[in-house]
Amino acid sequence: MASRFQAPRGTFDVLPAAARSRARIEATAARIFARAGYEPIATPAFEETELFERGVGRSTDIVRKEMFTFEDKGGRSITLRPEGTAPVCRAYLEHGMHKLAQPVKLSYTGPFFRHERPQAGRHRQFHQLGVEAIGTDSPLADAEAIMLLADLLAELGVPGVELRLGSLGSPAARQAYLEELKAHLRANEAELSKDVRERIELNPLRAFDADDEGTRGVMAAAPKLVERLEDADAEHFAEVRALLGGAGVDFEIDPSLVRGLDYYTRTIFSFVCAELGAQSEVGGGGRYDGLIEQLGGPPTPAIGWAAGIERILLALGEQDEAPGRDAFIAVADDGQRQRAMALAGELRNAGLAVEVDLAGRSLKGQLKHADRVGARHAAILEADGSIQLRDMRSGEQRPADASRLAEEIGGEAS
Ligand code: HAM
Repeated sequence: MASRFQAPRGTFDVLPAAARSRARIEATAARIFARAGYEPIATPAFEETELFERGVGRSTDIVRKEMFTFEDKGGRSITLRPEGTAPVCRAYLEHGMHKLAQPVKLSYTGPFFRHERPQAGRHRQFHQLGVEAIGTDSPLADAEAIMLLADLLAELGVPGVELRLGSLGSPAARQAYLEELKAHLRANEAELSKDVRERIELNPLRAFDADDEGTRGVMAAAPKLVERLEDADAEHFAEVRALLGGAGVDFEIDPSLVRGLDYYTRTIFSFVCAELGAQSEVGGGGRYDGLIEQLGGPPTPAIGWAAGIERILLALGEQDEAPGRDAFIAVADDGQRQRAMALAGELRNAGLAVEVDLAGRSLKGQLKHADRVGARHAAILEADGSIQLRDMRSGEQRPADASRLAEEIGGEAS
């Protein structure tokens, strides 16, 4: 029954088994966010293209190659959001949230879009969970944000998670460092990959991310940004490390940690899971103290992260089992079908999970179907109006009263 239509390349359908696992991940995250006071926010699936050009950065892969950008009917350039931080900051400014008590702590979940080469854990439409704490530069906020993601991954049972931590420092110190790094890259140009060589001037930090042997060799000997931090940034970073240590969060300092977005300053972090293979990052983020100003707002420090739901699912490597039903209402005689439907409605309103035959099956067929959907009971409506309640596990059957059915089924529901 295949049709010539398929989900577009890099996208996928979420079928019920996977949808259940996703719902559980989102519910766990919502609980963790609420417990720490991160209020939910939702922004549109598309924004003005310039928001991302300015926010994410014109030299990033995301803006250069990966955005789904189109003109709307009014000739405006629109982009399907590749990430959530710039949109949340746009909303923060648009709704005057800088006038609220700071920091404003927000959480979100939803679809994001990047035109990447599809592979396991990398899709063109994917889903993120994330938080942003806007309006504080305190290292406490860095530690809190990181702890939330650590808690989420632990509570979900994601195996083999490691936290990598780094600091990018202030833009000024980073500028001086970048000149030093560029000089190192230029001095070793012959060993670099073509891609890295072409971007020495535009984005030399990305060279740390390269996976070809030549570039990796050059980068092993490159100067490291964490060794070049200014005093205030170094202190900030030391404080974040001390807070995480005090909270019992394990981490590793990664001097070559870089992220694919330009807005980061000071703390950056990445939670990786070895079992994921090439796309090993389950979630990550960092501080972006200059982004709100970049978007036209007042100077406003902030920190946040996002985790990929598909990567979490992949790392968990399992799907949630279908929940059973409390009861299936079967009819021994077609004359009882109307009553069966009414009874199913009553039982559902009483909070029970109840199905009824919608396919005109014989009684034998109905009981088989009751078994298939995992019903714990079958209430069989006989031709004379009496009811037999069957325990689907033991096969035992006994007469039951319609007015007490909810109690009898509910009392035994596990
Ligand atoms: P990001 O590192 O670009 O950061 O993405 C965050 C997470 O989204 C990644 O760790 C990964 O799990 C998932 N992800 C990214 N791209 C894909 C893809 N093509 N397919 C599947 N999963 C993907 C951000 O987006 C920042 N906005 C995070 C942040 C929030 N920083 C501060 N606040």
